[in-house]
Amino acid sequence: MTKRIFQQARWNEKLLFELGSEGERGMLIPPFETEAGGRAENSVPESMRRQNPPHLPEISQVETLRHFLRLSQETLGAGLVADFGMATSTVKYNPPVNEQLARDARLAELHPLQDERTVQGLLEVMYRLERFLQEISGLDRVSLQPRGGSQAIYANVSMVRAFHARRGETQRDEFITTIFSHPSDAAAPNVAGCKVITLYPEESGYPGLGALKAVLSERTAGLIVTNPDDTGIFNPRIREFTDLVHAAGGLCVYDQANANGLLGVLRAREAGFDACQFNLHKTFSTPHASGGPGAGASCVTEALAPFLPAPTVEFDGEKYYLDHDRPDSIGKIGSFYGVTANFLRAYAWIMSMGADGLREAANLAVLNNNYLLKKVLEIPGVTAPYQPNQPRLDQVRYSWTELLQETGLKITDISNRSADLGMHFFFSHHPYVVSDPATLEPTESYSRRDIDTYVSSWAQIADEARTQPELVRSAPHNAPIHQMSDPTYLTDPEKWSPTWRAYRKKHSE
Ligand SMILES: Cc1ncc(COP(=O)(O)O)c(C=O)c1O
Repeated sequence: MTKRIFQQARWNEKLLFELGSEGERGMLIPPFETEAGGRAENSVPESMRRQNPPHLPEISQVETLRHFLRLSQETLGAGLVADFGMATSTVKYNPPVNEQLARDARLAELHPLQDERTVQGLLEVMYRLERFLQEISGLDRVSLQPRGGSQAIYANVSMVRAFHARRGETQRDEFITTIFSHPSDAAAPNVAGCKVITLYPEESGYPGLGALKAVLSERTAGLIVTNPDDTGIFNPRIREFTDLVHAAGGLCVYDQANANGLLGVLRAREAGFDACQFNLHKTFSTPHASGGPGAGASCVTEALAPFLPAPTVEFDGEKYYLDHDRPDSIGKIGSFYGVTANFLRAYAWIMSMGADGLREAANLAVLNNNYLLKKVLEIPGVTAPYQPNQPRLDQVRYSWTELLQETGLKITDISNRSADLGMHFFFSHHPYVVSDPATLEPTESYSRRDIDTYVSSWAQIADEARTQPELVRSAPHNAPIHQMSDPTYLTDPEKWSPTWRAYRKKHSE
């Protein structure tokens, strides 16, 4: 196999806020014509007006272009590498033809406040995409309003809450989840003001029925689980789980962000779920991996349908329209109607695949994953905890612990070194029940050659860890990323800075 030589541009690039100088301008805004109706700010109440101008970068056009050009040289570039290591984040091929459609001015230049009669085409795409997702989930209604998986999970949890409240069962405020379900499955009920009960796995990789029975009560609002979860192990007794929850009066929410191995194979309805969500930016091939924006789809049974986010898209036999008159709705989950460009991308992808194509994608994703599993387990020092040597669905949470104990290196050293070999640095989100984890998901998009290349890079790093540990410890050498030395900067609210303002606040303290 030919190894590619990887050497990436590395600029000592500052933040946009740190570039430029006072008074520099990228654009001169024409003076306001007062005759046109007075100053706009006069229509904003005095109490709501800014006291100080916003802290915006002051920078020329050419410097701005250079800044972004340099940044673009420091990215790996979508599709350039086999992106298997995004930690329970299905990253698959996004066919450029779908991009072409989504960028067409007839979609890209629509305004969300346009009259419904002028956006019949887009409403039809939304309506038809919803029907596809109904069929794929087996459920009865869909909302495309959520901006991503977590928002859709939150919408589903809120609908379950509203359902119980409507029946006067406000004491139902407990959600049961499993430790290997995605962290959003615990976070969403927590944000919705519920208590979260977490079940831990047995040897099999999933919790026993006894553990579930022990926590069910008249306070149970619902079950919310990912299946298969981050380990790639599918809980085959899921129907018994959902039946037990229903018998206790609760409802069941399925986190189907990881639906890629199940398309056309298993539906939320038959598994006994009342609600599920899909991430269009994963399973349905719309861009992902910081190429976003994402889009989530909330699917529910008829019993939960009255609570769907408003407005819903309806068809009266002649025209499509938005129904805002939904008195039991949980309200809006985001502004306007959702990430419409992704609806068209996902719709186009489903249309091009057809029902058989979707099932074939699922079969290939599972095949690819099990080929990868077999190859990875040939690398001494890497293991796949729970059910070793058993097939998994679409992903596997591996552990590097054995190699790290042998060499004294850290998981971040291995991940940093993988960036040197031209790969997205891998990670796994918390909780770190599998120690020193790396979650890989090869999807249907990658060839056997891609998988072999990926595995040979891991094998090379494992070998270097034993023979040249300093090379690994001081990585990355060829990639522009900084050393990722402390993953808690991604998981600890005390440390992360999602905005420049938060960064400055934390660093000035
Ligand atoms: C199983 C699962 N659920 C939920 C999410 C959250 O989706 P999003 O990142 O779109 O909010 C993810 C994404 O990583 C996931 O893998």
